[in-house]
Parts: sequence; structure tokens; C-alpha cells
Amino acid sequence: MESNGIIRIDDENFEFPIIEGTEQEKALDLRTLRAKTGFVAFDEGYGNTGSCESAITFINGEKGILRHRGYPIEQLAEHSNFVETAYLIINGELPTAASLNAFEGNVLRSGTLNANMISLFKGFNTSAHPMAMLSSIVNALGTYNAQYATNVRKIDLEHFDTAATLLMSKVRSIAALSYRMKVGLPLDIESDSSKFYTEDFLTMMFSKPEIEYEDTCGAAKALDLFFLLHADHEQNCSTSTVRMVASSGANLFASISAGISALWGPSHGGANMAVIEMLESIHASGDDGSRFIEAAKSGKAKLMGFGHRVYKNYDPRAKILGKSAIKVLEKIGVNDPLLDIASRLEKAALEDDYFVSRKLYPNVDFYSGIILKAIGIPVEFFTVMFAIGRIPGWMANWKEIAKNSKSRIHRPRQIYTGSNERNFVKLEKRG
Ligand code: ACO
Repeated sequence: MESNGIIRIDDENFEFPIIEGTEQEKALDLRTLRAKTGFVAFDEGYGNTGSCESAITFINGEKGILRHRGYPIEQLAEHSNFVETAYLIINGELPTAASLNAFEGNVLRSGTLNANMISLFKGFNTSAHPMAMLSSIVNALGTYNAQYATNVRKIDLEHFDTAATLLMSKVRSIAALSYRMKVGLPLDIESDSSKFYTEDFLTMMFSKPEIEYEDTCGAAKALDLFFLLHADHEQNCSTSTVRMVASSGANLFASISAGISALWGPSHGGANMAVIEMLESIHASGDDGSRFIEAAKSGKAKLMGFGHRVYKNYDPRAKILGKSAIKVLEKIGVNDPLLDIASRLEKAALEDDYFVSRKLYPNVDFYSGIILKAIGIPVEFFTVMFAIGRIPGWMANWKEIAKNSKSRIHRPRQIYTGSNERNFVKLEKRG
């Protein structure tokens, strides 16, 4: 049964339809608000705004639930892997053995970059941030595959499957090459399609001349889990950016390049770097964590890796990664003091009224940096790892926008707070 909600302004009532999602989330459909009332909805930060209908990921932040296409993240983490989960997120269904084989084969065979693209890496300073390189080169990748990046929706959609496998594969080579450029390793690497997705990536990144990278401590498996846990996360800042750019008709590569830039910020994907920097500075200062907690409570510091716009309960990915961090360090035989500091901070924060009353729990970034550090990923590349993991989610969201023939360009309104109309005074008369 269709139901309506009423907004009363002065003494007039305005009716708006109520729409309901498959998990009973309700929204007031305000698409006609301005036309009917002359008002716009003011929701800075979009905390109460449903910007789209989407069938990809469901989050219930109060209960700590995360599901992709209906499958709980805990089940995917236990039984699936990154490539299969990527297929699920992009296509909506778990693959059959044959379709997984075909998808995986296409991804694994598309890793090597066009030789001309290698010169792009040589144009960057060695101090260039890898997220800036990733964003630029993903956009450039579109120019090397211009037939899939036309900005003509129908054509870009027809080539989506090929473009998606290519992007998912080559993002690893881009990340590996930016690392190699920065540390002065040769850039003449090739992807090896006989290796599994994450293993091939680590080999491209860390192999030295004559010494092929060997995964002796389960690094590929741990990184695969990290990628899987980052594969999609509903309408977060970077995904909304991808959708915003896609809404203008921009191609997949350009839209994802914009998403990478949005992810770079420390309040979003950059938080995993910030967590390690925070833990290292606590360690260096000889603090057991208690002084830092006090600083966070007084607003002098922020407990990075804590808090989330949507989760007001434990981020389910943080639980899985916390356990994984312990296992990885055990396997490598490393006793990282940062893990102890993190556990102490977590325990202290979960018992402290400041954090409890604000519903601040560990998010996915709290333990992920410890895992990445243990497997040898430099801190500057942490957010790049997040971006590799998030590619499937961004692509699925791009496709959702592109396939929707009714989708309109995203164009919010504002409340203007500047000067009223003024008369221009010529420079010579301004004194
Ligand atoms: N440490 C200390 N206090 C915090 C923290 C924190 N990490 N996060 C929020 N608070 C406090 C705020 O100061 C505010 O307190 P107040 O009510 O006394 O003013 C209250 O909790 C509410 O916080 P908001 O900033 O309103 O929460 P918002 O939803 O806007 O921000 C965010 C969420 C950006 C994630 C924030 O919690 C944060 O900065 N956390 C640290 C950075 C981080 O870990 N980011 C990763 C997010 S997950 C991801 O992108 C994968």
C-alpha cells in the first residue's frame, strides 16, 4: 500500500510519497519538494539524504551489518576470495564455476600495461604521492583504451565488461609501478597470468632483478582478505564521487579516477595511514595509550580508525581484520608493539564513556594498517591498497548509474550566505 508523509510549512500541508527499500529502510521522496513548496532540503554532509536507489550493498550501521548483494560480509570473508566477491558485486549474482573461470582468466590476462604508459611513471617526481599517480594514471588508462571510454553511455556500457576486467587487473600494475619508480626498481615488469590475482600483484611490486618475490608468510592470502573487505561500502564519499561524476555521462575510467582522489583524504581512505602514524607516535613517546585517549577526549587529537558516519556499532570488517592481524603477525613471527598499543587503545576506548556515548567503535582502518605493514606495504601505499580493493564497488556503482535511463545529472542546491547584490567599482576608484 502506498503511503505518504506530510510536511507542514506555516499553515499549509504538503504530501510526499514514502518509499521503502527491501530491508524496510524508509525515506520521504522529496524530489518534488522545491516545485511544491519553494523550499530545498538542507542536509550538509548528506547524513540524512538518500542520494540514489541501489541494489549493491546493504549496511545497517546500528546493528553492524554489511551485506553485498544479500550475502553477509562474514560469509564472503570466510568462503570467498576477492576476485569472486568482485564478480558478485559487479554482476549481482555469485558466478557459476564456468563464469568465474572466464572472469578470472580475463582479469589475470589483462595485467600488463601498454609499453607507452611506462613513460608516464618516469614523468613523476619520486616524491609524488602514489594516490596522485594512481588517480592520474587510471584516467590516462582510459586514453589508452579510448574505445571503452567514449563518454557515450551506450558505447561505454556495451564495453563495460571488458573495461571492468581491464581496470581491475591493471590497477595492480599501476600500483606496483608507482612503487618501483619511487624506490628505483626497474619498470620493465610483466603480469604473470599463471599466478593468482594478489600473488601476481605482490610479485610485480616487490620482485628485484634476478630475485623473484616469494610469499613465505601468507601475505597474498592476507592481502586478498583485505581487498575483499574493502570491495564496496555503499554511498561513502568516494563511491558517491564516482556516482556524481558518472551522472554527467563521464566514462568509467574518469569516474573512478575521481573516486580515487576522494579516497585519498585522511577522513576516508587515508585513515589507514593515519592510524599507523598515530600508533607509531604513541609508541615513540613512551605512552601506553592512556595519554592519547585523554587527548582525543579533550579534542586535542583524534583517535584515528575510530568512529564512522554509518556504523554506530562495531564495523564488522574491523572484527575480521583484528583477528586476521593477530594471525598474520603470528605467521610472520613478528612481535609488533603497535598491535599491543592498538589492542590497549581499543579496550580503553570501549570502556570509556566519551567513546561509548558517541558510539565510536573501531572501523576497518583500525587494524588494516598493522596487516599491511606486516606484509611489507609501505605506509604511503596503504590507501592505494584500499583503492585496489574498492575498484569493484566503484565499477558496480558506475554501472548502476549508467544503466539507469532515468538517472539525472547530480546537481544539489545550496543555501547562499554571501553578499547581496552590489555595484562594481572600477579599480582606480577603489583607492
Ligand atoms: N576520535 C575522537 N572523537 C571523535 C572521533 C575520533 N576518531 N570521531 C568522532 N569523534 C567525536 C567528534 O568530535 C564528535 O564529538 P562532539 O559530539 O563532542 O562534537 C562526535 O564524536 C561525532 O563525530 P562527527 O565528527 O560528527 O562524526 P562524523 O560522522 O562526521 O565523522 C568520521 C565520521 C569522519 C569517520 C570521524 O569519526 C573520524 O574522523 N574518525 C577518524 C578518522 C577515520 O578513522 N576515518 C575512517 C572512516 S572509515 C573509512 O573511510 C573506511
